[in-house]
Amino acid sequence: MWFCDSIIANKEFLTELDREIGDADHGINMARGYTEALGQLPQDSDDIGAVLKKTGMVLISKVGGASGPLYGTAYMKAAKATAGKTTLTVQDGKEIFEVVIGGIKQRGKAERGEKTMLDAIIPAYEAYCAAADAGKSLDECLEAMCEAAKEGVEFTKTIRATKGRASYLGDRSIGHQDPGATSSLLTMEAIRDFCK
Ligand SMILES: Nc1ncnc2c1ncn2[C@@H]1O[C@H](COP(=O)(O)OP(=O)(O)O)[C@@H](O)[C@H]1O
Ligand SMILES: [Mg+2]
Repeated sequence: MWFCDSIIANKEFLTELDREIGDADHGINMARGYTEALGQLPQDSDDIGAVLKKTGMVLISKVGGASGPLYGTAYMKAAKATAGKTTLTVQDGKEIFEVVIGGIKQRGKAERGEKTMLDAIIPAYEAYCAAADAGKSLDECLEAMCEAAKEGVEFTKTIRATKGRASYLGDRSIGHQDPGATSSLLTMEAIRDFCK
């Protein structure tokens, strides 16, 4: 499945980022989860919610570390918002973002600015909404989303981690890009490319 491929292809890269400020397993965790999900996904279903739900269940049950439950929750929330849908509108995208961000915050107790995946996802959401409110097409909204996510990943280099394993490093986490923000960017880029 397209959104799994990019994460699996970037396994080494994500793991190297996690080596710098974590325990060198982010790419391994994510690739394991997505490879398992690929094997279990309904092959002929066009129900978006069903695909996302399966992915979320696999990530929660098979992936250790912080990222498995967090991404798993995100996919489960997105699944609920898309249950039975076979196509998505610009408005659906907003709603998905809202439940995904809510789910990650609830599960991880993090806020923006703590050097986590939220530092890619929240600015991406805001840029997406701004483009949507300006009447842009879905393609344009997704482009704006990815631009902002990329800036968010860059921003994580400038801040200290206060959540997750990287927070043990304190100020020494500054200067490194957050692995989870990076995998979120990759996921959003895969969504954009797929929708094109
Ligand atoms: N409380 C949290 N809220 C949101 N994201 C988090 C939180 N804690 C960690 N993360 C994300 O998880 C990533 C690390 O994932 P991973 O290496 O797979 O798990 P672990 O840190 O348990 O080894 C971090 O780069 C960060 O983006
Ligand atoms: Mg790790």
